[in-house]
Amino acid sequence: MAFSESFLTELTERNDIVDVVSGYVRLGKKSGSNMFGLCPFHSEKTPSFSVSPDKQIYHCFGCGKGGGVINFIMEIENLSFPEAVEFLAKRAGMPIPEEENDRESRKRSRMLSLNRDAARFFYAQLSTPQGGAARDYMAKRRIGPATAKNFGIGFAPDTWDSLEKAMREKGYTDFELFDAGLVRKGNKGGYYDTFRNRLMFPVIDVRGNVIGFSGRILGDGEPKYMNSPETLVFNKSRNLFALNLAKKSKSGYIILSEGNIDVVSLHQAGFDSAVASLGTSLTPEQARLLSRYTNQVIIAYDNDGAGIKAAQRAIGILEKLDLKVKVLRMSGAKDPDEFIKLKGADAFRNLLESSENQIDYRLRSVTDKYDLSVDEQKVEFLKEASDLVARLPGSVERQVYAMRVASMSGVSADVVTKEVERRRKKLVNQARGSEERQQSRPERQLQPEEKALRYEDPSSAAAEEGLIRLLYLDPALARNAELPAPEEFSSPVLGHIYSVLRDKIDRGETPSAATLGGALDGQEMSLLVRLLQKPELLSKGDRALADYIKRIRERKEQGKQVSDLRALADKLRETKGYEG
Ligand code: GTP
Ligand code: MN
Repeated sequence: MAFSESFLTELTERNDIVDVVSGYVRLGKKSGSNMFGLCPFHSEKTPSFSVSPDKQIYHCFGCGKGGGVINFIMEIENLSFPEAVEFLAKRAGMPIPEEENDRESRKRSRMLSLNRDAARFFYAQLSTPQGGAARDYMAKRRIGPATAKNFGIGFAPDTWDSLEKAMREKGYTDFELFDAGLVRKGNKGGYYDTFRNRLMFPVIDVRGNVIGFSGRILGDGEPKYMNSPETLVFNKSRNLFALNLAKKSKSGYIILSEGNIDVVSLHQAGFDSAVASLGTSLTPEQARLLSRYTNQVIIAYDNDGAGIKAAQRAIGILEKLDLKVKVLRMSGAKDPDEFIKLKGADAFRNLLESSENQIDYRLRSVTDKYDLSVDEQKVEFLKEASDLVARLPGSVERQVYAMRVASMSGVSADVVTKEVERRRKKLVNQARGSEERQQSRPERQLQPEEKALRYEDPSSAAAEEGLIRLLYLDPALARNAELPAPEEFSSPVLGHIYSVLRDKIDRGETPSAATLGGALDGQEMSLLVRLLQKPELLSKGDRALADYIKRIRERKEQGKQVSDLRALADKLRETKGYEG
């Protein structure tokens, strides 16, 4: 990360977090020293999003997101760290110092130009003799040359080093190729092409940069797709395949499908607003990105169990952003690509026009589960359908759908409406209760929200959190203490946060959300901010620090003894021939 401490400090001083956040969130009056508002990152009815003017950080007790002003802009504007810095510098009318800008942006632009050259290389391979297999495959999938050109579809030859050689000739180094995910390290220290014998789809962002690749095997085989890894310029959860094309569409909606081939087929058939996520299910970041270009999304996922489940999830995410969501009802084909090939573009257009709004869609999914001519099943249907209707935000909406449920089941509208409102009350009370619980006892949340960050040893982790908190709040404490090494931490995530923090302190810098933001990712930053919320008595900082260090070392020693015992037991078993 190339921005200096003094620059970042000035940047955050000139962009007060309360001012910046207020541009997006209505912050209500203070409670303690914090201001509260409705969290922009998850849907809620009572405010659990807090901003601390003193600490210049935000934290949501509901979804766990948190950070400094730069993290906030990264999250809400869907930007990388350097982009968010640039955004805030502009906002405050500050020029970005030349060298700082240079190093960071030179690396990015080198990688983008490498990706562009690689895309050109792949595209060119399509018309060489060795591209025959790819041409055959495209013919089989009926992808025409104009479509290939529109998407920049290409071919990675069936060799170990064609791309590497071609790019080195253009002056790129192996390191650059490796950082871009285009080559991998072999056992003997050499490099080999990541993508081999695959149909290559460049992933192009809305600004027209080639940010990564998605390669499909020619025919059957595993893995079907290979995607570029996360790089300086490629973030799967923040981009969508073909949005660069779809954003120009005049259709007024965006079609969200699952597969690259579906997207390509849809565009070829004239549906130029199709996009797909990049091998993961739809993320909130992608939904936010979509909401910049459209207010209506039509989900056209695969016609199987996984597709239906993914559609339900996507509906939930899109709805939070006030996007109109419809779901395509496809039958007789497994995906849009197959549908268009079997039944033609006009038939697909009919599907689009008759696509259901998401409430109808969900109601139908419930209806399909039950046989309404059987009384017990009718009762189950009524329960589930009332629950669904009860979750609709608008009272008119609830009334309309309650009547629909009534007429479907042959029960009086009055009864259904009453049932719906009863459930509604219960839901509202439940939601209020859980939000209040979360707000009043944030310190009870021992474990991080994200599964990937779960602590193996919560007791040691609590001490590790404490150590980080103390050092962040009072870096001077580091001077007299015999601090543990990051490797002594039981939690790798906390160990990493700690090592970044130590690095700043050792260099004599004052840690802040801004200076740490470049070295920590969003999850780590949220975790840091969350652990900073817990109380800490700084007046007895030295004592607390020593206690934390002691606990970390003790737990580590205990852990070591346990594993030593295990090793010893294993050894005994081997030498004495015990049965396992
Ligand atoms: P076909 O219709 O079978 O030719 O392919 P498709 O492009 O429609 O893809 P499919 O519906 O099978 O998968 C949907 C998306 O999931 C793909 O576009 C990929 O982004 C992703 N995906 C599928 N298989 C894999 C895989 O093996 N690895 C990874 N990383 N992603 C995959
Ligand atoms: Mn498919």
